[in-house]
Amino acid sequence: MTAAQTQTGGPPAIRLRNITKSFGKGRAAVHALRGIDMDVASNQLVMLVGPSGCGKTTLVSIISGVLDADTGTAEVFGVNWPDLSGAAKTKRRGELVGFVFQQFNLIPMLSVVENVAMPLLVRGEPMDRALDRAAAELNGVGLGDRVTARPAELSGGMQQRVAIARALVGRPRLLICDEPTANLDGHTGQHVMDLIKTASRGKAGDEKTDGRCVVVVTHDARIFHYADHIEEMEDGKLKSPSKVILEEARHVPHYDREANGETNGNGGATDKTK
Ligand SMILES: Nc1ncnc2c1ncn2[C@@H]1O[C@H](COP(=O)(O)OP(=O)(O)OP(=O)(O)O)[C@@H](O)[C@H]1O
Ligand SMILES: [Mg+2]
Repeated sequence: MTAAQTQTGGPPAIRLRNITKSFGKGRAAVHALRGIDMDVASNQLVMLVGPSGCGKTTLVSIISGVLDADTGTAEVFGVNWPDLSGAAKTKRRGELVGFVFQQFNLIPMLSVVENVAMPLLVRGEPMDRALDRAAAELNGVGLGDRVTARPAELSGGMQQRVAIARALVGRPRLLICDEPTANLDGHTGQHVMDLIKTASRGKAGDEKTDGRCVVVVTHDARIFHYADHIEEMEDGKLKSPSKVILEEARHVPHYDREANGETNGNGGATDKTK
């Protein structure tokens, strides 16, 4: 939605204006972002696609308040990251944002349920309550029977499901997924995206996740069909998605879901990227 309207008519979940970001100085400077305007409505799963080095990770780092832009405004659900700093920013980010990465980033010596509980423990919740909520979240991703396992005992797809549970346990309103299927085979990647798509709707009646928005950075054309909306990046700028990308977004890879007891959270290829 480079053209910036929201489908709800309300304030956008994400509002970026004139975001620029460079690394280094002088002739060695890399201009990673060259003036990004973007509005994303609530209840959307947005995909950010584009070649390696075009600035995708830099952009989601700014959206999630991990990195400061050089210029511009970066508002997420009414929070303007440049207005916050230090501990206030870290606290707000912990409440507002969940992250899923290509490398699952689980702590090897902790059990699965302890990994998922970690964001709650960091924000000071009591251990028994945090573990209960983590176990419930693991149930939600189909791993309720593996809570005591160590990450290394699980397959890559299972580890990514643990990472999704960890990202969701704090009920974030914004979920950032940077190449969530890059280390997974096609079938497992679809399963992981089913969970992310379901998460993008938030929980009914939960004011904390109401209007949740998900940003997925990806190179993986096999998952484009999950997007409500696609933004393409090139050389630090956004552009309208190319025909090739829109074609790929219409194609739903076939695999035998019923044999695996899975359902497609998207209900088919609905390309709303027009
Ligand atoms: N911390 C940094 N220091 C210096 N240069 C950086 C830093 N982070 C990113 N860059 C540079 O900024 C540009 C954009 O990088 P970014 O990681 O955002 O790209 P990307 O689109 O996520 O790429 P990929 O698909 O390979 O993950 C690249 O030229 C990269 O080398
Ligand atoms: Mg990247």
